[in-house]
Amino acid sequence: MPKILLKIVKQGWPYTLAFYFANKLTEAFVIIRSNDIMVKLQNLDKALPVAFANPLPSISQEALLGGFVAVFAVFFIVQNAKAKKKKFREGIEHGSATWGTLEELEPLVDPDFSKNIILSQTERLRMTPMPKGMWQRTCNKNVLVVGGSGSGKTSSFVKPNLMQCHSSYIITDSKGQILQECGKMLQKNGYNIRFLDLIDMGLSMRYNPLAYVKSDKDVRKIVTTLMVNTKSEGTGGDSFFEDSASILLTALVSYVCLEAGPEERNLNTVLDLLNAIELRDDPKWKNAVDLLMEKLEKRYQAQNKAVPFCVKQYRKFQQAGYKTGQSILATVNAHVAPLELDEVRNLISKDELAIDTVGDELTAVFIVTSDTDTSMNFLAAIFYTQMFNLLCEKAKKYPNGRLPVHVRFILDEFAQLKIPNFEILISVLRSREISVAPILQTKSQLRAVYKDHAETITGNCDSFLFLGGKEESTIKDISEMLGRETIDSRGTSENTGRDKSFGQSFQRIGRELMSKDEIASMDGGKCIVQIKGCRPFFSQKYNLTKHKNYPLLSDSNPKNAFDVKEYLASLGRVRARKSDIVEVIEVG
Ligand SMILES: Nc1ncnc2c1ncn2[C@@H]1O[C@H](COP(=O)(O)OP(=O)(O)OP(=O)(O)O)[C@@H](O)[C@H]1O
Ligand SMILES: [Mg+2]
Repeated sequence: MPKILLKIVKQGWPYTLAFYFANKLTEAFVIIRSNDIMVKLQNLDKALPVAFANPLPSISQEALLGGFVAVFAVFFIVQNAKAKKKKFREGIEHGSATWGTLEELEPLVDPDFSKNIILSQTERLRMTPMPKGMWQRTCNKNVLVVGGSGSGKTSSFVKPNLMQCHSSYIITDSKGQILQECGKMLQKNGYNIRFLDLIDMGLSMRYNPLAYVKSDKDVRKIVTTLMVNTKSEGTGGDSFFEDSASILLTALVSYVCLEAGPEERNLNTVLDLLNAIELRDDPKWKNAVDLLMEKLEKRYQAQNKAVPFCVKQYRKFQQAGYKTGQSILATVNAHVAPLELDEVRNLISKDELAIDTVGDELTAVFIVTSDTDTSMNFLAAIFYTQMFNLLCEKAKKYPNGRLPVHVRFILDEFAQLKIPNFEILISVLRSREISVAPILQTKSQLRAVYKDHAETITGNCDSFLFLGGKEESTIKDISEMLGRETIDSRGTSENTGRDKSFGQSFQRIGRELMSKDEIASMDGGKCIVQIKGCRPFFSQKYNLTKHKNYPLLSDSNPKNAFDVKEYLASLGRVRARKSDIVEVIEVG
């Protein structure tokens, strides 16, 4: 039977029955020829069989009217009953929140332990595709980790996940310890190790952002990242001068990428060009960079080529008068000041990181940043911006648009960097075999840096791990996220008058699954895990000493410490720091 017909029959039978019987009853009444209602009622038993002798409904006016009156009566009764109907949700009147069970998590966990992301002692998330028919429960592999200082972000999340050795890793190492503790373990598991040490630059592999520039779009990304990450705190910066400074810097970086030879294609040359811009209050005066740009333009004209991007950008700077030009120059110089340091010049002079191969073979890149001095974090921000864009571009080259080796970004102290457009990037990474794990001390840190986009970032992390902390807005958010449950509450009463009596009453009330004070005073070994599509888990933090790769860490055996100097030497690069230079005096 067609669905619609079934629906009509299902909903229409009370009306049909009411019509039919009322029709027959009215017909019986009409058959009895009397005006006295009592006579009609007394003879109804005889008239009814006559009326039902013909099973079809009567079409007499009175009988039809009787039928319709009954239909209206039934309709009125049904509507009235519907309006008065009570909605009971026994046991969950005030909320249905409960803690999750491992059974509901089962499809999300790979039976092979090493193919999972570790969230806690019992909760894991598979790196492999979902089992057949379970695609609806697919989660992205982005994990937002929040934990106060010393809550175990490094020990119970970062290091256990590095020990899994299933992906390439890009790790922010905010104290320089993770490289030392886990470097050798990763090497033994077949990883290429790279590191950018922004604390001790003499012991870092070198990183030249311009080595990866392929288009003027890439230039703009580098310049934007540098500008937003070198803005001094408190000074909002006049947007005209900020924008003009950005245009001038774009012109110079673009010029270097276009014209400089391999040895000079770096930010040091950009600084040299910047220093060569001498402005004079004379419209006829041309400085060295004006002449270089002019020469380039003429060469392009001679070859019938369009004016290059760098020349177009530089012209905009030239249009500013002498005084404005000087202010623009001062703004650029303030932004690039950290690049003038000798050790930074050395660090960016050439490239040894080869970051474009990270998605092709197992690689671990450590970005050692200082958690006390953030002045060099702009280089880390440029690195991450470039890394995300490079990997997304690279993924396009593979037939299914995915990198052959999954790349995981473990971003400790995430709020110390501002990666432009991160809120957009995070939403497109999943389909390219890239995932991120931003790690924060408090949720409010993210709001401070990414403003309105903070919600987009947290919303794009299907898993959330809370390791403890006391910050007010974080625990309020978590308590609300966990929801409310319904509990039974017992009340007692006592009458102490002449007739002593005791009474007990029970009622259902709602309460948070975990109240703010319970979250704030959570046991140090416990954590809260929330995974998309599952109820939250109140669990034990992962104990890294139980991992099969733990004996390879330097935590287990100090002999396993990764020796940076030895590694640099093995690359054929011994670079002495000033403190390592020993003066040899020949005696005699
Ligand atoms: N799951 C764990 N297993 C073993 N030790 C742990 C665990 N969690 C924390 N610890 C110990 O607690 C201390 C602090 O942990 P950890 O350094 O991981 O915290 P953190 O949140 O990364 O701190 P910070 O904010 O300073 O980076 C360490 O000495 C570590 O050994
Ligand atoms: Mg840490």
